[in-house]
Amino acid sequence: MTLSTIKKGPFEGQKPGTSGLRKKTRVFMEPGYLECFVQSTFNAIGGVAGKSLVIGGDGRFYNDKAIQIILKMAAANGAALAVVGQGGLLSTPAVSHLIRKRKTDGGLILSASHNPGGIDEDFGIKYNVANGGPAPESVTARMFDETLKITEYRTIDAPDIALGDLGLHQIGEMQVEIIDPVADYAALMETLFDFGKIKALFAGGFMMRFDAMHAVTGPYAKAILEDRLGAPAGTVINAVPSEDFGGGHPDPNPVWAKALMEEMMSPTAPDFGAASDGDGDRNMIVGRGSYVTPSDSLAVLAANAHLAPAYEAGLAGVARSMPTSAASDLVAQKLGINSFETPTGWKFFGNLLDAGKVTLCGEESAGTGSDHVREKDGLWAVLLWLNILAQRKQSVADILVDHWAEYGRNYYSRHDYEAVPTEAANALMAHLEAQFDSLPGTQWSGLSVRAADSFSYHDPVDGSVSENQGLRISFEGGARAVLRLSGTGTEGATLRVYLEQYAGPDADNSLTAEAALASVRAAVIEITAMQSHIGRTAPDVRT
Ligand code: G6P
Ligand code: ZN
Repeated sequence: MTLSTIKKGPFEGQKPGTSGLRKKTRVFMEPGYLECFVQSTFNAIGGVAGKSLVIGGDGRFYNDKAIQIILKMAAANGAALAVVGQGGLLSTPAVSHLIRKRKTDGGLILSASHNPGGIDEDFGIKYNVANGGPAPESVTARMFDETLKITEYRTIDAPDIALGDLGLHQIGEMQVEIIDPVADYAALMETLFDFGKIKALFAGGFMMRFDAMHAVTGPYAKAILEDRLGAPAGTVINAVPSEDFGGGHPDPNPVWAKALMEEMMSPTAPDFGAASDGDGDRNMIVGRGSYVTPSDSLAVLAANAHLAPAYEAGLAGVARSMPTSAASDLVAQKLGINSFETPTGWKFFGNLLDAGKVTLCGEESAGTGSDHVREKDGLWAVLLWLNILAQRKQSVADILVDHWAEYGRNYYSRHDYEAVPTEAANALMAHLEAQFDSLPGTQWSGLSVRAADSFSYHDPVDGSVSENQGLRISFEGGARAVLRLSGTGTEGATLRVYLEQYAGPDADNSLTAEAALASVRAAVIEITAMQSHIGRTAPDVRT
């Protein structure tokens, strides 16, 4: 085996976004592209000599090839051990757990999350640090700096590792340990939840449908829901990970999990439906005839978490990303626990979790998680719901109605405008920001603006400040709109418009979100002069 140093780089545009580096797969396949990013990551963390890493991905096209490249580079850079999921598979939360359990120095996850996969679709890579969470901004900034000045990477000429073969392998001096991707994760779930109660629920005829969307959670969901908890065979659908996710977007929302939504709204719907995304960190929850928004899900989980063994003693606090609705704040207030508002991106929860300030975290983008790992965790959220359903013995719809009667309802919807020319999107944002001083007190579509600002986050743990994290407009009467540009898109800009309207416990909580949000939506369209900036006012996706 020969070590070699290959002259290459730098490549433009290797700046990690909300969740690692995402590009078209063919870009990652350009000779040296992935290599230079990986070497830059290694350089940014002081090298990997003597270190151990967890490596795995969501099984999308190029997953296995990328893993072989990374293993050889890790060996050439002197790493001591790589822990790899069998077949190259590991869900994002499973990687987070393995980093913590095996006390490795970090991990690399190959995924573009919920983006479609295939040679003409998306690929991605993210680096997680030793606490199991996504690299914080200080680290991603160093990684980006390294990508700008890299001129060479190190690799070793060695045969590929048989990723399907469990056990110990060797590349040069580095050990490669291929492990069952599910076992450690499933064991962790068993320590958090009352598997006996959930088992009894299924034994009593409770019916569930879990859509793995042809992505990584298939094997996890089958092993846990069907094998361990006794859910009937066929509960988990689209359970075999495929390179292109069956040609769809592995994004668990009403648009991309349409078949599941249709089943759940039909007269023969099972009691409970759920889905997860490409890399297994997102979740969608839907009851019979009743979709649960991610913001409501976080609030319901916060209010009921004590019904599961892991959270019996209560929660330290709840954190949510700024565009997520304020529903969980109301629960935190009532429980007398901490609540925090962070920028979009799971990495911002890491410090709060490490410092013990919060136990649950959630985002409107279908992410929910707790201090059991340092990533959001799709199956975890599903299991916490199941534990709560097993205890409360009520339907999802009844639990929501009870929740709104107690706390009021935060009507909520996110509207996405995709593939907007970057300049047009920037102009719209600039146009809005330029009005901030004059907006308060003005009327738009019957709503009066209370305040408008650009969100800055002051991390209460490390004192760091993150500016320009989204523009927000709040209105008298409990309406709010947030606008930001996605940090995970790969084509042009994606404009996200987040709409919220609070209705108190005694108000009518049975409206459709669309009706309840009509005024705030119209106000945003007017204030931003949306039609003239981007040429349309109808979104591509509503969640
Ligand atoms: C990923 C991140 C989340 C984030 C989401 C949406 O899933 O892990 O933390 O909320 O992307 O990000 P975006 O910048 O596209 O709105
Ligand atoms: Zn994901």
